[in-house]
Amino acid sequence: MNSEKNKICIFIIIFFLGLSNSLLLASNNAFRQNQVLGKGMNISDLEAPKLGQWGIVIHKYYFKIIKNAGFNSVRIPIRWEAHAMSSAPYTINPKFFKTVDRVIKWAFDYKLAVVINIHHYPALQHNPASQKEEFLSLWKQISTHYKNYPDTLYFEILNEPNSNLNPKIWNVYWKEALKIIRQTNQDRTVIIDGPYWDSVWGIHLLKIPAQDKHIIVSLHYYSPMQFTHQGASWIKGSNAWLGTTWTGTAKEKQAIINDFNEVESWAQKNNRPIYLGEFGSYSKSPMKYRVLWTTFVRKQAEKRHWSWSYWEFCSGFGAWNPETKKWRRPLLKSLIGKAV
Ligand code: BGC
Repeated sequence: MNSEKNKICIFIIIFFLGLSNSLLLASNNAFRQNQVLGKGMNISDLEAPKLGQWGIVIHKYYFKIIKNAGFNSVRIPIRWEAHAMSSAPYTINPKFFKTVDRVIKWAFDYKLAVVINIHHYPALQHNPASQKEEFLSLWKQISTHYKNYPDTLYFEILNEPNSNLNPKIWNVYWKEALKIIRQTNQDRTVIIDGPYWDSVWGIHLLKIPAQDKHIIVSLHYYSPMQFTHQGASWIKGSNAWLGTTWTGTAKEKQAIINDFNEVESWAQKNNRPIYLGEFGSYSKSPMKYRVLWTTFVRKQAEKRHWSWSYWEFCSGFGAWNPETKKWRRPLLKSLIGKAV
């Protein structure tokens, strides 16, 4: 009789341990998914107005190189709006879908997780109301198209909301997009960028519904801009920054630590994982300082268990040199911590 009782007791204990464990795992789902993203690399091209227009074409062998170097994921910025009808029903060109499908397949072939997003969409940033219908329609089409893909495909709703897509409007728009995504992708991990260019100070303004546990919050980090964007043609006045150094003085390091602490305290309060989806420095910054900055930022992210993705593979910030077809080894080392 006693042994019968013991058995029942053990059974009940095991049952509750299992239940609490699976509840814990379920509630932590986005945290696990964030670990899968781990160390990542952005690959440019599909965010240009026309494919190849910015001098890069994505090749299958890029994914092999990235995987072999020790990365876990890639982020593929995409300009869907340039490949969709400009009036209702805003149909995305099936040929373009095939291009994106192919790129995702190449990444999966090398066991890399993939983040796809809506990247450049200037009209939405400048005149949100005029583009809302199209923005939501794009997500309806994208999420339906990829609904059966494995959970190693992540959706990022929009890169760097800015300009007239202010926090108030952005908090409405992304929620509507998420609702559409959830109609076909209940458990898909969705990444959300904060307002004001996905900045440290923008994240605080995100209002995330408590019930959706499949969300990762993104952060982009290029501070100090005078260092990371010196000589960048798309930033007015940035030639005056040429020659800016980042030597890793206590003050320089502390500024980054303070920024990251601020984000981390928001993340803990809100129980959300952080994905440092972009950080990097333009090629006109001297390499020795780029290496110091990249190493420091990357380590600070990892210290807080954030996943990250370097901006970017082989263009202006490139960690890999498309001319020599070799890694810029000091930069790679600053990301992966070892030379391959
Ligand atoms: C933009 C790139 C730019 C990078 C750094 C990205 O979000 O898409 O065009 O080079 O940020 O400024």
